[in-house]
Amino acid sequence: MQNNKNTLRWWQYGVVYQVYPRSFKDTNRDGIGDLKGVIEKLDYLRELGVQAVWLSPFYPSPMVDFGYDVADYCGVDPMFGSLEDFDTLVKEAHLRGLKIIIDWVPNHTSDQHDWFKESRSSRDNPKRDWYIWRDPAPGGGFPNNWGSVFGGPAWTFDPHTEQYYLHQFVSEQPELNWRNPELRAAMYETLRFWLRRGVDGFRMDVIGMILKDEQLRDNPPNPHANPHAPANDIFGRLLTTYNMDQDDVHSIIREIRAVLDEFDDRCAIGELWGELPRWVRYYGENGNGLHLPFNFRLMWEPWQAEAMRRSVDSLESALPPFAWPNYVLGNHDQPRLASRFGGQPQARLAAMMLLTLRGTPTLYYGDEIGMENGIIPPEKIQDPQGKNLGAERTRDVCRTPMQWDDSPFAGFSSVEPWLPVEAGYASRNIKAQDAEPASMLNLYRRLLQMRQESPALHSGGYEALTVSAENCFVYRRQVQGEIRIAALNFSSETRQVAIPGQKRGTVLLSTNMDRQETVDLGALVLRPFEGVLLAPEA
Ligand code: NOJ
Repeated sequence: MQNNKNTLRWWQYGVVYQVYPRSFKDTNRDGIGDLKGVIEKLDYLRELGVQAVWLSPFYPSPMVDFGYDVADYCGVDPMFGSLEDFDTLVKEAHLRGLKIIIDWVPNHTSDQHDWFKESRSSRDNPKRDWYIWRDPAPGGGFPNNWGSVFGGPAWTFDPHTEQYYLHQFVSEQPELNWRNPELRAAMYETLRFWLRRGVDGFRMDVIGMILKDEQLRDNPPNPHANPHAPANDIFGRLLTTYNMDQDDVHSIIREIRAVLDEFDDRCAIGELWGELPRWVRYYGENGNGLHLPFNFRLMWEPWQAEAMRRSVDSLESALPPFAWPNYVLGNHDQPRLASRFGGQPQARLAAMMLLTLRGTPTLYYGDEIGMENGIIPPEKIQDPQGKNLGAERTRDVCRTPMQWDDSPFAGFSSVEPWLPVEAGYASRNIKAQDAEPASMLNLYRRLLQMRQESPALHSGGYEALTVSAENCFVYRRQVQGEIRIAALNFSSETRQVAIPGQKRGTVLLSTNMDRQETVDLGALVLRPFEGVLLAPEA
């Protein structure tokens, strides 16, 4: 499809940057990041070259799941600041041309939310049906066989009213009943609350889980379950046949989208997993669903050119013409990309891939300096997943404080942070990398700038090019007269690549940031883990 910036929406040509507010910048000396800290760093984000900032939850919360247990959808936890700070953040971001996307957590609340307090107070409370309550199974025990993502059963018995409530995360995250029209209306009001305050979009947490099978049938066993998973990993041992991606969820997605469409130019992003044919349905028929169902597929591909190409090609061919692709390589739930893909050179190559593919890229804070997994001593584990399913599953490793400089707490805070600073911060920090011309930070800045300046990169079509060089992923991006070619060497050895149909071209950027030259595209030499962005001669 031919496109250019004038016909694209901001969430198509823009790049999204995820801020985990707890870990970005602490201004009130409590060791936890806050909204004033994000405001302080808006100039940094603008200069980095992103167009939108997504904030993980900052709502009032007991923080059992670090804000994904929301006690009030229309407030700001004092730990992060105030509503006034939020309004300032939106205003200051907009002044700098940055959009603000916030997290919205529709599947569950905190057990401290007033709605749940009412719901659990008696069986005939008007809000009883806003949550999912069930009698024990005949003969006693859980209403069905579902498990919690964080280990253990998905049901907790409430002795006061002698029923179980459903929670597929921690027991302090009771699940809302989206089949109840009053609940739906109340949730849509929470969207309008923020839309009126000027937010530009929402990232919707586990949106594919909000509707469950009406009969809450047992899930079948998962034949591919990890045999070494801990005994309490009930969720992992079952398929998600009846608790996710139910056919009737799409009518609710359309309603959510209609709320956003009451306002100008807002964007709906959803956290979604699952196979392509089911995933692609979240765009809606003719695009009346989510603008961007998050695409996490590249994140867990093996470090292999062919695997990456297959993933991109299958996505491209699954998308209907109205659907815009997107790619995510890191977030607050997964190990750091530099650790996952094997090291800093691999992380540099991954950055070039992410920022030169067709579709909206989402960056995770700290990946632009190559932050690696933090080392979390067992007694410092905070994440419920790590506490319940074992230290190797803790998500704390990717939530360590942002590294601004080499001062004792990496410039994140002047007091000890809520999680330890990652070991490499003395050199892996913004200040040091700003001064080093070929740093990861400067590579990201250059890639972001080139993506915005090049119509082929932000709007052009994508076509994979078949090359005989082993473990290299080569693709062409093209719009009208402009062609860009990315040639990415995934191997740890030097490769010579013959780019089909091209004679000479210019290397515009290498991931090593040490060459800009005219080259023979019939015999392009790529060093270990090197990627280059090329402009072929006409
Ligand atoms: C997905 C979020 O990304 C994760 O951090 C959270 O724990 C669960 N949803 C539950 O809200």
